[in-house]
Amino acid sequence: MSISELNIRDARLNDLDLIYAIELETFPDAYPKGLLKAFFFMPGCVLVAEAEGTIIGYAIGIFKEDGTGHIVSIAVKKKARRKGAGSALLGTILRRFWSKSMWRAVLEVRKSNLEAKSLYEKFGFKKKGEVERYYQDGECAEVMELLLRDRQRP
Ligand SMILES: CC(C)(COP(=O)(O)OP(=O)(O)OC[C@H]1O[C@@H](n2cnc3c(N)ncnc32)[C@H](O)[C@@H]1OP(=O)(O)O)[C@@H](O)C(=O)NCCC(=O)NCCS
Repeated sequence: MSISELNIRDARLNDLDLIYAIELETFPDAYPKGLLKAFFFMPGCVLVAEAEGTIIGYAIGIFKEDGTGHIVSIAVKKKARRKGAGSALLGTILRRFWSKSMWRAVLEVRKSNLEAKSLYEKFGFKKKGEVERYYQDGECAEVMELLLRDRQRP
């Protein structure tokens, strides 16, 4: 796969099975399929990365009422990693947040997840705090934040 073959698009409900398969492959504490489906109906975006007609990754971002864009999940199939799909998904979500007037993006990431933290840092995310025992196995989450614009206060 080369970057020229990569396509990021909005997911459709009939992509759900493939998204869920990536979720199961990736996370020991995978989101249930029903929750992944629910994200399609929330204010936000569910994106997929396709290469050669196959879905190789997905990302979910939620637009919150306080102007925060929350990156709920991002994952790329193991065999397709380190070829730019994660960056393309993250960049697209951040542009969606910007276009919806979000003033910041936030996410939680396992403290031990150096690959993902490196990706987020490349986009300018900074560690904002920690949440003890955030994950089912007891691991701590680092909360990371990227400021997108000045906050509009009422
Ligand atoms: C994190 C993830 C989405 C990155 O996707 P990807 O397609 O491999 O990302 P990219 O190819 O765009 O890489 C972008 C940057 O991420 C970082 N990165 C990705 N894989 C890495 C690795 N194995 N080791 C170190 N840094 C890594 C690097 O900074 C990389 O930039 P570089 O290639 O110029 O060094 C992917 O590794 C993944 O699906 N991981 C499992 C799921 C996960 O942890 N999701 C995040 C939950 S918070």
